[in-house]
Amino acid sequence: MATEVRTPRTGSAHRGSFSSRKVFILAAIGSAVGLGNIWRFPYVAYENGGGAFILPYLVALLTAGLPFLLLDYALGHRNRGSAPLSFARTHRRTEWIGWWQVGICFVIAVYYAAVIAWAVRYTGFSVSKAWGDAPDEFLFGTFLQAGDPGVSLDVVPGVLVPLAVVWLAVLVVMSLGVQKGIGATAVVFIPVLILAFGALVVRALFLPGAGIGLDALFRPDWAALTQTSVWAAAFGQIFFSLSVGFGIMITYSSYVGRRTDMTGSGLVVGFANSGFELLAGIGVFAALGFMAQAQGVAVDEVASDGLGLAFVAFPAIINEAPAGALIGVLFFGSLVFAGVTSLVSVIEVVISAVRDKFEMTRLGATLTVVLPSAVVSLVFFSTTSGVYVLDIVDHFINRYGILLVAVVSMVAVAWFARALGPLAAHLNRTGSVPLGRWWTVLIAAVTPAALTVVLVRELVADLASPYEGYPAWMLGLFGWGIAAVVLALAGAAMLVRWRASTSLTPPDDDPAEHTAEVAR
Ligand code: ALA
Repeated sequence: MATEVRTPRTGSAHRGSFSSRKVFILAAIGSAVGLGNIWRFPYVAYENGGGAFILPYLVALLTAGLPFLLLDYALGHRNRGSAPLSFARTHRRTEWIGWWQVGICFVIAVYYAAVIAWAVRYTGFSVSKAWGDAPDEFLFGTFLQAGDPGVSLDVVPGVLVPLAVVWLAVLVVMSLGVQKGIGATAVVFIPVLILAFGALVVRALFLPGAGIGLDALFRPDWAALTQTSVWAAAFGQIFFSLSVGFGIMITYSSYVGRRTDMTGSGLVVGFANSGFELLAGIGVFAALGFMAQAQGVAVDEVASDGLGLAFVAFPAIINEAPAGALIGVLFFGSLVFAGVTSLVSVIEVVISAVRDKFEMTRLGATLTVVLPSAVVSLVFFSTTSGVYVLDIVDHFINRYGILLVAVVSMVAVAWFARALGPLAAHLNRTGSVPLGRWWTVLIAAVTPAALTVVLVRELVADLASPYEGYPAWMLGLFGWGIAAVVLALAGAAMLVRWRASTSLTPPDDDPAEHTAEVAR
């Protein structure tokens, strides 16, 4: 039965809601499982020595990712608002943190869509093996037409067209709303994704040499544990992958019925996401092992690392393996499916914030957000310099966006708003996994302290030597510059007043609040 949660306090009587806990969980898994799992995780693990990465990754998941996911759930579910509204209802002066997350989501959405567009093209390329014998040169030369790092206005039609199609699809899904758009997409896409990707991993595991790749992924490298860059990469990956720290889970949980078990749902989502991520790692490394054996080289020499890994390693495998075209369609098709369900969640953070603040209709807010996002995305990422800008933005926004806002929000909620008690009590009222003192200690002290150490070391490293050797002006503009502008705009957004009909009191604390919920 449909569940409609009315939040008349925001003026827009129907913010929308997921029809059931199952749909919410599928949508949350759809958000979490994305390019981060299939495209990003393997290359980040590869860059950080493979086996060196798994242990920090698991530590980051258990000590930071899952506790922070529950904080996001608590903020959204208790306050029933977009990220800025949820923070404003937690404490007026923390609203800017929500806008910071909105800005981060905008930045992520515009480059995320570009990678989905690449995957759309590669699904087609798989059939004809368009890359020939040199997938590396094909990706950067023929397909992306990447010149020297810089800014170019030369458009690459092969990226422009699928990118425009991706944004059109986003426009349609987002205009349909929370249940009919986001929820329905997840209900269809996630089962398809699991089947396609499962088939792919099984196929990869039977390739000769797969074991060599798995050994590279899972053999621990104890020496690497002393490198903070490996820890930073692990925390960054967990946050990106779980969709925490950028407002997504706050927004999604604001659309969930009040009696829903949020802590149990959080564990399902968190472990499903990491399970999928490890599966992707297994699939990609098995394939890398196959290539290593075929070429007679070590696994870490088989492909250039970096964001092209999936787009280079898989074509090479598709060339060699029996039924290669099928492997290609499954892999790149999975990337598209996983990417779309995440992209809609990223852009929903922006749409719901605009809706709440200006009390707009869903269609009005969707057009206001999606059209400019599409233009920015097309201008920056369908040109011959797009891949460099993407690499820089991804590196900086993850560290000085997601990780930084995570630390700030934990400290602000715990120490400034002193809201951890009410938030834990809220989740405990209906949750199947009780949040005890351990959660408060992690969120208020352990996780922010660990993340701060990681961030400071990263800052020192990024200041000492330019990331990937890019020119200083590019790093200043697309790295530091964008991270700083997002923060400045977040402060400015707080100056815009809420409409008179929008209450800034959390519904739980407001006796006048009347929430109508039809029992499931
Ligand atoms: N969580 C999403 C991903 O992993 C953003 O791609």
